[in-house]
Amino acid sequence: MTIQEEVKKRKTFAIISHPDAGKTTLTEKLLLFGNLIRSAGTVKGKKSGKFATSDWMEIEKQRGISVTSSVMNFPYKGHQVNILDTPGHEDFSEDTYRTLTAVDSVVMIIDATKGIEAQTIKLFKVCRMRGIPIFTFINKLDREGRQPLELLEEIEQVLNIETYPMNWPVGMGKRFLGIFNRFDKNFVKYNGNEEETYIAYDELDKPEHKELVEHPTYQETVEELELLDEAGDLFSLDAVLAGEQTPVFFGSALAPFGVQTFFDTFISMAPAPVPRKTTEGVMSPDNPDFSGFIFKIQANMNPAHRDRVAFLRVCSGKFERGMNVKLARTEKTIKLSQSQQFVASSRDTIEEAYAGDIIGIYDPNAYRIGDTLIEGKDQFEYDELPQFPPEQFKRVTAKNVMKSKQFKKGIEQLVQEGAIQLLKGYRTETYILGAVGELQYEVFEYRMKNEYNVEVMFESIGERIPRWLKEEQVDETIFDERSMLVRGREGEPIVLFKSDFALRWFKDKHPDIDLIDLLDVN
Ligand code: G4P
Repeated sequence: MTIQEEVKKRKTFAIISHPDAGKTTLTEKLLLFGNLIRSAGTVKGKKSGKFATSDWMEIEKQRGISVTSSVMNFPYKGHQVNILDTPGHEDFSEDTYRTLTAVDSVVMIIDATKGIEAQTIKLFKVCRMRGIPIFTFINKLDREGRQPLELLEEIEQVLNIETYPMNWPVGMGKRFLGIFNRFDKNFVKYNGNEEETYIAYDELDKPEHKELVEHPTYQETVEELELLDEAGDLFSLDAVLAGEQTPVFFGSALAPFGVQTFFDTFISMAPAPVPRKTTEGVMSPDNPDFSGFIFKIQANMNPAHRDRVAFLRVCSGKFERGMNVKLARTEKTIKLSQSQQFVASSRDTIEEAYAGDIIGIYDPNAYRIGDTLIEGKDQFEYDELPQFPPEQFKRVTAKNVMKSKQFKKGIEQLVQEGAIQLLKGYRTETYILGAVGELQYEVFEYRMKNEYNVEVMFESIGERIPRWLKEEQVDETIFDERSMLVRGREGEPIVLFKSDFALRWFKDKHPDIDLIDLLDVN
């Protein structure tokens, strides 16, 4: 097979959702389709600890969670599927955001009983910022939830994206009869079990479907559907691929219902790897020379060896185990002899990979997040990974002042690795750590102790809303505890607002000061 054919087959995506919306349940169904697991419950056992077979980090064992966002890959109907897991719950961290830089599309799960929730908004914004196509699965139709039209409106208003319902549910909860598949023009009947009956639109008037068609819920839905056809947005694959329209699928991951149709349609529409921007122009995934970038570094996967694994997204050419590549930042040559592919929690050696694939490579302490690796004579780097705004802030000091040298070294390295963000006082050398999730502090504390032998102390500043501002607009007298002035990693001024209210109050009072939100997409 040529490189071009290999690349065309690849579908690399992440599933994003708020905790409990059904990501694990849906992922498990997809793994069943891919024959990666044989029975339901294999993945779902996470709460009972079955899932946590990996012992990459002691912390994982202690908390019974998987810190590592793993990659699952399997062949499906002529495609090669790569699913990147984005950790949710308390293990939400900057890694969750960074994972989104390595995918070509995203599946967003929304719980029909709850609508859009906080974590979904954050992840969605990152997708929008990067123009990643988003496919929506509205889950838990087997429960009494919110009205479908209301849910679509919420997506459009809160997330500011056009929606196109690919299917339309007939009733929900106990009255759930099935879905109209607007795209394939058939009705999928819910039989209350895993079986799905497909009835083509033009066969619905047959006598055997009389009971269904005369059902009041069905009748109501037909009217709704007509309205949708007349007044709703038109489907546009171009708009979907540009990240401007999201195809919406209703279903139930648990039943399961509508999952197969969703996945088949998604796989047929989701983009294969596309050209990516570099410092020297755009790089095509079909280019014969291998290249890729590192989006995550996992340290201490095996504490006995202190090994580090860098997660690399292949962007062009063919990766072959043992090949020599150049690290663009230092122009040094590195031999990639140890490479792994991740299948759920196990690691297998991988011999070759193409654009879209994610591989784990042994890190001899040489890589940084965002690093570009290239084969051949060219010299370029992939776009720098964006900086994501932290949400929580803590001052940090070493318990033992005698250890300040190791303390500084540890912080420097962990920050460089992207484990956590470092800010400083505006006029002082106070160290402030910024994170998007509490887990980042726990990992930081653990690693400082285990790798640098330094015990640290935190003093919480609390949750804050950070806004970047221009140095020339800084007037130090206007900031106070509710709008704390600090410096970012490049020394740039940042204001940490105590609340939405404090932010609005400040804006009213100082309308001339430009406050920049890193996640602002509009
Ligand atoms: P997450 O990974 O996004 O956090 O969600 P997860 O799949 O773990 O699902 C959260 C809960 O929602 C689980 O119930 C799961 O069974 C349930 N769920 C997922 N999809 C559906 C659906 O389509 N319909 C209904 N009714 N429920 C669904 P739990 O009680 O928290 O866990 P468990 O006792 O089932 O393990």
